[in-house]
Amino acid sequence: MKFDSKTLRETWLKFYESKGHVNIGAVSLIGDGTTGVMFNVAGMQPLMPYLLGAPHKDGTRLCNIQGCVRTIDIDSVGDESHFTFFEMMGNWSLGDYFKKEKTAWTFELLTEKLGFDKDKICASVFAGDETAPRDDETAELLLNLGIKKENIFFLPKKDNWWELEGTTGTPCGPDNEWFYPRNDDKCSDNCDITCDCGRYVEIGNDVYMQYEKTETGYKPLSNKNVDTGFGFERLLMFLNGLTDGYKIDIFKGVISILENTSGIKYGENAESTKAMRIIADHLRTATMLIGDVNGILPSNVGAGYILRRLMRRAIRYARKISVGADALLNIIKEYIENVYGEAYPLLIEKEEYILNEVNKEIDKFNKTIEAGTKEFEKVVNGINRKNQFMKMTNPDYKEETEIGGKAAFRLFDTFGFPLEMTIEMADEIGFTVDVDGYNEAFKAHQELARSTSAGVFKGGLADDSIECTRYHTAAHLLLAGLRKMFGNTVHQKGSNITQERLRFDVSLDRKLTDEEVAELEKFINDAIKAEIPVTKEVMPVQVAFDSGALGDFGAKYGDEVSVYTIGDISKEICGGPHVTNTKELRTFKIRKQEACSAGVRRFKAILK
Ligand code: ALA
Repeated sequence: MKFDSKTLRETWLKFYESKGHVNIGAVSLIGDGTTGVMFNVAGMQPLMPYLLGAPHKDGTRLCNIQGCVRTIDIDSVGDESHFTFFEMMGNWSLGDYFKKEKTAWTFELLTEKLGFDKDKICASVFAGDETAPRDDETAELLLNLGIKKENIFFLPKKDNWWELEGTTGTPCGPDNEWFYPRNDDKCSDNCDITCDCGRYVEIGNDVYMQYEKTETGYKPLSNKNVDTGFGFERLLMFLNGLTDGYKIDIFKGVISILENTSGIKYGENAESTKAMRIIADHLRTATMLIGDVNGILPSNVGAGYILRRLMRRAIRYARKISVGADALLNIIKEYIENVYGEAYPLLIEKEEYILNEVNKEIDKFNKTIEAGTKEFEKVVNGINRKNQFMKMTNPDYKEETEIGGKAAFRLFDTFGFPLEMTIEMADEIGFTVDVDGYNEAFKAHQELARSTSAGVFKGGLADDSIECTRYHTAAHLLLAGLRKMFGNTVHQKGSNITQERLRFDVSLDRKLTDEEVAELEKFINDAIKAEIPVTKEVMPVQVAFDSGALGDFGAKYGDEVSVYTIGDISKEICGGPHVTNTKELRTFKIRKQEACSAGVRRFKAILK
């Protein structure tokens, strides 16, 4: 049987429904702040409270196909197998069935519904270590189902244990991974699932989530759960005998649009193939993020910045293969109308909105490119004039063909022109860019920003600054309150603090009613009354973002950042300074609200 995306979706859901599971559908891709990550990165993520023991309204057997966004490998997108958006086919037992049923059902699905040969199926189970025992039970069950003994492997924690890295208080446990060979060509007599020749593909895993990860180790959960995840795209590739993930039916129409517009065949040359994959991947993720139930828009902060980066990277690669705005919009339409509309009906409802927002971002980026290009030309003209002048006085003068690091940094800092573009444009005219110099200028800029803020204290202004300090903390509470009331699409757009007041701009498209203002003030004053300590931790920037800290993604952070936490109300990357306890704020009052620019509201607030 041939599987396309539609039949595979149906097969998965029908199979688990036939085993008593309720299809709970997909939830938002955007983290709601409770799990500490910006995007939904795994099918189990939204189910975490239930895996930890909370009752789920749909019972104890659940299944779905859940979109996930992982941007950690964004620079690898362009090869055959990396995606920033993918779907995970999942099913769960919340303290219901366990290993016996799960091994039997995965085996049945693979052999009877998907056509796998039982003699070729391989599986790995946890070998055990000092933290948890060896999973002999699963191995025994697999053997009884008919999987060959030599095809069952005991592997260590790094292979057969599933947990969300960098978290605690989350469910985890040993897993049983399923593998299948692409062909019968062993690369050597020892070729097995541990071999990196690429013959064996991991097609999915059943995690036995029976522990909670704590600061010090693992604590058994009262429920023994099952968390199954099979990568949708990966299985689709495998079932169709493909090694290139961009050849599955999901991308067919999109690749045709790219081929027809560029006049280049997919696969014709490495560079344009990479560009096509990047465009196909990034625009798919952008469509999903904007069209999400908690949809976001490109901006310079938080998740919005990641979305902007994806979109601009797609636009940049589109320019390389002469693909313009119309084709990019057609790609979005293709995804909505022909690929995902049925499984994600909200995309159809939001189609016009999505196209409009993508169009706006394309326009904005094109303007950035125009302004930056003019500046780039000025820099090059300057170098050329110098070369001409020097040659007049010294015919042996060796012409300069390098754009200085400071100039490249200015293009980025002042004109928003990405370094990669400066490098590309330089390359086109036979110039290079001093990337080390760029990095140095970047660092110097950061240090300047740091020392300026530290100077405020050392210079004897500390007394005055302490009234300001309260406003810095108030700004964090204000943002937290607005996000609580209006959702995580609210982001800080700017702030200005004096000794007398706080001015704060956020992405919000309407005026607050009097009742809402009162609710917001109450939220903040309650936090003040609760006398919550404000704590500071220093950590690597990626760890900060991964832990759910809000921050400006404008890439001007050092390697290490300070994260200020106010109880469970707020967690932001911030240079500070802040008070040590919310009680120092005394009373918070909104004085004024006004429209600042399209979609941005300005609040003025005082502390009494
Ligand atoms: N949580 C497991 C995974 O994401 C099923 O692979």
